[in-house]
Amino acid sequence: MIKIAPSILSADFAALGEEIARVEAGGADQLHVDVMDGRFVPNITIGPVVVAAIRKRTRLPLDVHLMIVEPERYVGDFVSAGSDMVTVHAEASPHLQRTLAQIRELGARAGVALNPGTPPEALAWVLDDLDLVLVMSVNPGFGGQAFIPSAYEKIRRVRALLGARSVDVSVDGGVKVEHARPLAEHGATTLVAGSAIFGAGEPADVIRRMRTAAEGP
Ligand code: DX5
Ligand code: ZN
Repeated sequence: MIKIAPSILSADFAALGEEIARVEAGGADQLHVDVMDGRFVPNITIGPVVVAAIRKRTRLPLDVHLMIVEPERYVGDFVSAGSDMVTVHAEASPHLQRTLAQIRELGARAGVALNPGTPPEALAWVLDDLDLVLVMSVNPGFGGQAFIPSAYEKIRRVRALLGARSVDVSVDGGVKVEHARPLAEHGATTLVAGSAIFGAGEPADVIRRMRTAAEGP
């Protein structure tokens, strides 16, 4: 079973409540929230107060993707704001194991994101400390970028490293309906999509087509 996670980065932020209601009614499995600090990535987005506001408007699990330096300083605030999953970047976390343990102790699921240039082996010594892996298929910072196909092989290698562990493998960046089937075949369990879903006239239709494509014939 594949999970579809619309990324609100491509939603209309001035009408966020309605945008979220639309994808929730349209069959989204979780909501992907992109947090950027202008340091780890060039762009700046939102913080814990917005996550707390979103929490009040949806029952969907909140999958919070921290693209920030020193994420260990903020994971507590994001869990308190209602995040169900908190994902930090391996490249931003010198004490990755400690940060993951911290997220779990706070009661959320802990994730590690890997930039396109980061090898899957960055996970090798935290395999028992994580609940999800976020394979980036763009260099993070902006919605609407083109999918980098090396993500396919990265997902396969991450899956191999994980062995029998029940860990979600999510893919984020440039994901369109046409990528859904090959991504699922390579071992992805969650598809994050921003512009493909919120840029469409009918988000529910894209969510349905992505799921059908991923689940195959
Ligand atoms: C990129 C973000 C993604 C982004 C995906 O830095 O982490 O979650 O919103 O948007 P699309 O699907 O448009 O690439
Ligand atoms: Zn993201």
